[in-house]
Amino acid sequence: MPILYNTPGRPENYQLNSQLKVLVIDDEINFTEEIEEFLQNQGFISYTANNVHKGRSILKNQNIDLLILDIRLKGINGLDVLKEVKQTYPKLEVIIVSAHGDMDSVITALRNGAIDYLKKPFRHTDIQIAIQRTRKFLDLQRVITSMEAKNSLISQSLQEKIKRDFIGESKQIKQILDLAVTAAKYKNTSVLITGESGTGKENIARIIHYESARNENLFCAVNSSAITDSLLESEFFGHKKGSFTGAINDKKGFFEVSDQGTLFLDEIADMPLNLQAKILRAIEEKTITRVGETDPIATDFRIIAATNHDIAKLIEEKKFRLDLLHRLNTIHIHIPPLRERIDDIEPLLTHYTNDFARKLNKPVPVIEREAINALLNYSFPGNVRELRNMIERAIILCKTESLKASDFQTYEGHDSEKEKEKINFNLEENELKLVHLALKEMNYNQNKTAELLGITRDALIRRMKKYNIKVSKSSSTTEDE
Ligand SMILES: Nc1ncnc2c1ncn2[C@@H]1O[C@H](COP(=O)(O)OP(=O)(O)OP(=O)(O)O)[C@@H](O)[C@H]1O
Ligand SMILES: [Mg+2]
Repeated sequence: MPILYNTPGRPENYQLNSQLKVLVIDDEINFTEEIEEFLQNQGFISYTANNVHKGRSILKNQNIDLLILDIRLKGINGLDVLKEVKQTYPKLEVIIVSAHGDMDSVITALRNGAIDYLKKPFRHTDIQIAIQRTRKFLDLQRVITSMEAKNSLISQSLQEKIKRDFIGESKQIKQILDLAVTAAKYKNTSVLITGESGTGKENIARIIHYESARNENLFCAVNSSAITDSLLESEFFGHKKGSFTGAINDKKGFFEVSDQGTLFLDEIADMPLNLQAKILRAIEEKTITRVGETDPIATDFRIIAATNHDIAKLIEEKKFRLDLLHRLNTIHIHIPPLRERIDDIEPLLTHYTNDFARKLNKPVPVIEREAINALLNYSFPGNVRELRNMIERAIILCKTESLKASDFQTYEGHDSEKEKEKINFNLEENELKLVHLALKEMNYNQNKTAELLGITRDALIRRMKKYNIKVSKSSSTTEDE
């Protein structure tokens, strides 16, 4: 009995994929011979096996894309073979061939991962359509795989770049990098990073993330002082559509989008107390509930928190929860200010000089010794960020082949030793002074003051509360009241 009925011509729109490798396992030699010829005529690379043993060996040695498998094989249950090959080669697609009327086996096969089925006897058209359908699916799989590979390459090169670009020769920086690598190994451990502004806290947080088992997933960096108070809860926990005015869609919050990844909480000292309590619960329970919902959602994130404030002082003042601090600082990494690790200044100087010269398409200038000495003695209140900006500016303005001390614009002028005595580096006191000055400058208009300070109005109000700055009615404008 002929197994294949020939239907002349090809179905319309059928495009051959000559690279598809197809294996046919069937114990009827007539069938395999005929189907092999047909597949070859269609431009596929085809293999045949009349027993499972030979089939296994072809699967092992050739990179087969598609298996056409008869489930009525002598001495062995074809459904068991299907299970076995799907387990060994999860990306292999299988079209099963069944006897007419054996729908139970067909259903079991489809449940076990077969992509399609053919009932014997079948026509060329049937097999063409089945292969065409499978090929579309395989093409899609290939696109996804190549995209995944590309993404992992991107994250790999990003990871290498971050590590390569984190510069430092000092004892302290080496210890910090060691601690960061240890933190990366424990993918669930909370990390607290402290240090003045511009010391590289976010850089260290990224290194921990990209060196950890979570590196394929999101590094979600959140600065709560940049978010309006009324939106904080929904931003962190997400919300259900319609749960408040403006909630036009269901939305995932930071905790949910950080599932399997890292949630970087920048400037945690600015977080309002009521949110601190909720965040503590989310960290402890690893579940969150969206605003307007009742069902909790599980999410597996790691927290890395950072601050440039003196947390101990904030706890004393009851502005930060002690229990939250204990949750956050399982590993504590403190980055000392740049002026306390002068061994890092020269390497950073070289790194950023080369980097900016390349980016700005300029020749790399020589930095004169007197300039280096001046920088080694400078106090860098803005730390590495300040050094970086200082170099960028110097290279942009540079008209000669070398950089002198006067090309580096420091905050204090050049005679830094003298200046160091004058300048008060206490961040909190300076912040307080700055808020006062800005309020005065803007005639106590809170919106304008916030804009001047480059923070949100809520962040300004939080700082005013923190420092107990009261604005009398007479000195504030009606707009803010
Ligand atoms: N060791 C370092 N090597 C190279 N670049 C660094 C290093 N430390 C910091 N930087 C650079 O300095 C800038 C500030 O770093 P980062 O944003 O990580 O600081 P931060 O401590 O988070 O500051 P802030 O408290 O103001 O948020 C970034 O451009 C960063 O790449
Ligand atoms: Mg930062």
